[in-house]
Amino acid sequence: MIPYAHEPLTDFSNEQNKQSFLESLDKVKAELGQHYPLIINGERVTTEDKITSINPANTEEIVGYVSKATQPLAEQAMQAADEAFNTWRKVKPEVRADIIFHTAAIVRRRKHEFSALLVLEAGKSWVEADADTAEAIDFMEYYGRQMLQLKDGAPVKSRPGEYNRYDYIPLGVGVVIPPWNFPFAIMAGTTVAALVTGNTVLLKPASATPIIAAKFVEALEEAGLPKGVLNFIPGSGGEIGDYLVDHPRTRFVSFTGSRDVGQRIYERASKVQDGQIWLKRVIAEMGGKDTIVVDKEADLELAAKSIVASAFGFCGQKCSACSRAIIVEDVYDNVLNRVVQLTKELTVGDPTTQETYMGPVIDKNAFDKIMSYIEIGKQEGHLVAGGEGDDSTGYFIQPTVISDVEPTARLMQEEIFGPVVALSKAKDFDHAIDIANNTEYGLTGAVITNNRMHIEQAREDFQVGNLYFNRGCTGAIVGYQPFGGFNMSGTDSKAGGPEYLLLHLQGKTTSEAL
Ligand code: NAD
Ligand code: ALA
Repeated sequence: MIPYAHEPLTDFSNEQNKQSFLESLDKVKAELGQHYPLIINGERVTTEDKITSINPANTEEIVGYVSKATQPLAEQAMQAADEAFNTWRKVKPEVRADIIFHTAAIVRRRKHEFSALLVLEAGKSWVEADADTAEAIDFMEYYGRQMLQLKDGAPVKSRPGEYNRYDYIPLGVGVVIPPWNFPFAIMAGTTVAALVTGNTVLLKPASATPIIAAKFVEALEEAGLPKGVLNFIPGSGGEIGDYLVDHPRTRFVSFTGSRDVGQRIYERASKVQDGQIWLKRVIAEMGGKDTIVVDKEADLELAAKSIVASAFGFCGQKCSACSRAIIVEDVYDNVLNRVVQLTKELTVGDPTTQETYMGPVIDKNAFDKIMSYIEIGKQEGHLVAGGEGDDSTGYFIQPTVISDVEPTARLMQEEIFGPVVALSKAKDFDHAIDIANNTEYGLTGAVITNNRMHIEQAREDFQVGNLYFNRGCTGAIVGYQPFGGFNMSGTDSKAGGPEYLLLHLQGKTTSEAL
């Protein structure tokens, strides 16, 4: 087996790669507007009621229509998954891993096609779409190999006259609920982690990005996943989400999304329902209010570039995005001026064009919410770059910088999930770390400093699940930087890390007298 290494990103300065991506965009555009059914026990089920997926850069363009599950259909899917668990749990881990590796190979062969769909369905730039697809492949390659390491359990001692074993066995039916912002990577990663460990799955994709999920399910089927093991049930979070989270046969929920929905799922799943014979497990990876701290002894150009790239990559619509920078006062003005200069150089527009740095935000709700935060920002600080939005043809917002914001201001506390970064001044490094820790979240952070002792201080005192030094705070790589947050950022499940699959398994001890 080739050792795991992350999937290389595409070099779009290479003319051949560029042409190939343009061809994929044409192919995907030619297929827009199709209908995608639910998949329950391998059967295609078409419903009257549909989710319409639109291109956020061009709201007149319909990416596709997806049938919408009702509670009775969600119930059928649950029964199919429950039944399939009886056989899937006994399929050898090697075979399960092979199906996932085969799926990775299918996706890799059609890589640009998947990425082109992400450009049209999620408004990702070429580079961001390519990274999303690469991460989906990484999750498959990494978790497949992790399962092979866990297949024989963990070593335990035996005494004379006794044979002891400690095996990992699957849990049962998992409800997988991903967000729209990494519509391929997180959707695929959370799904395959559950499958490769021998569980069966009900996948409810995010309503803004169901088509990429439908295409992924097709790839899993092509790779040989047996019917009933994965059931595809797009639908309303409130209607079928609550129903499945509450269901007594749900054994675990794997959720990635906002703090409010994560907390709701956590609370509901903790209630033991009539007929339920286990305590449900909940993996909940939620929001962030991520900070870059800039020390006075630091490479200020690196600081400004890290802030801008982490704040505005995919329009700041990453749980890991830098939405606040805390800069020691001695260098505040220098860093602020450079951040403003770099921000004004960014391009916003149609993401099908290779040169576009930032496409649209995901939908009208996001557009309105972000614009209202920009208004709040104008009250709480100074608007020094951006601030404009245009939703006449798609949901475009200029990258926006608000300076001189107080650490407790709303802009410094609440997740905006858009291209807005707030800058705040700290008296010294200790003060900067105090401010960095003053939110309810704890997902990512970065420190830009040349002071070794300050790196060590931050390692101990900056309370986030993913802390980076002298780089930006986004872009964790599967198998290299396990990803997950503290506090209200979630259960710190560390996706893409060596312990992630164990969350989908239970340990079974057997002891035989000889
Ligand atoms: P969201 O919480 O609105 O939706 C996430 C998913 O939950 C969607 O599939 C949605 O349909 C579903 N849902 C909604 N209500 C539900 C309910 N009552 N029961 C069950 N499911 C329900 O989040 P979003 O807007 O899709 O994604 C953005 C959020 O996700 C941000 O807060 C971001 O920080 C977070 N996020 C976190 C991570 C992480 O790893 N920590 C990664 C990506 C995104
Ligand atoms: N894993 C993604 C990142 O690190 C969210 O940016």
